[in-house]
Amino acid sequence: MGLIEVHNLERTYPGKVPTHALRGVSFSVEEGEFVAIMGKSGSGKSTLLHQLALLDMPTGGSVAIDGKDVLALSEHEKTKFRLANVGYVFQEYAVLNELTALENVALPLRVRGTAESSHANEKATMLLERVGLDHRLHHYPSELSGGEQQRVAIARSLINKPRILLADEPCANLDTASSETVLKLLHDLNKTLNQTIIMISHEPEDRKWVKRIVWLKDGVIDHIEDVH
Ligand SMILES: Nc1ncnc2c1ncn2[C@@H]1O[C@H](COP(=O)(O)OP(=O)(O)O)[C@@H](O)[C@H]1O
Ligand SMILES: [Mg+2]
Repeated sequence: MGLIEVHNLERTYPGKVPTHALRGVSFSVEEGEFVAIMGKSGSGKSTLLHQLALLDMPTGGSVAIDGKDVLALSEHEKTKFRLANVGYVFQEYAVLNELTALENVALPLRVRGTAESSHANEKATMLLERVGLDHRLHHYPSELSGGEQQRVAIARSLINKPRILLADEPCANLDTASSETVLKLLHDLNKTLNQTIIMISHEPEDRKWVKRIVWLKDGVIDHIEDVH
């Protein structure tokens, strides 16, 4: 059984004319895979990722992560589960402007309040080294380039050692060179840490970094492509 098992997932947004954003999506992801979700704008990619991140509630179907029926969890349990198991990287970096790089990265571990939290700064420093930003620890986001901010966001998403890293078009706001750095970093994290990654992309050339591509079309899987 895969690390993630999605079965017949549906998400209809209510409204005068309801939008059937997901219309029965099924696939699984193995531990250690780097999978891309591709498809035209409006095909349901972000909606799908939100369901996997437990940020939204599907209107049908099931999601199992590590054998656990995550949709059955209470809101409180979902929040805990998400913090411990899911890293999420957004297109807009979503780093906090009033915190330094180090403080941004340490935050999700501090919030958890576990025994490890007292080591949050050390861990954050290690992760910032890992993403090539050891010379930027005490910089604020406004003092960093877009690519550097996104690498801070990636380091932050990893501080709780998530089982799954989800990224929604992480390079959409970056120039070509920064995009390459970020994708190389994700590829490297996948290879060296066996980090499971699901990334939305609309750049066909990103295929060279991933193992499989789930192609979405109008809220259903058009096909799944094995890249290598
Ligand atoms: N919160 C929402 N409320 C209503 N409709 C939405 C909402 N989010 C997305 N949609 C609609 O659902 C469809 C899929 O959107 P989305 O998942 O964002 O696609 P993608 O990420 O592939 O561009 C689109 O038709 C979009 O307009
Ligand atoms: Mg989207």
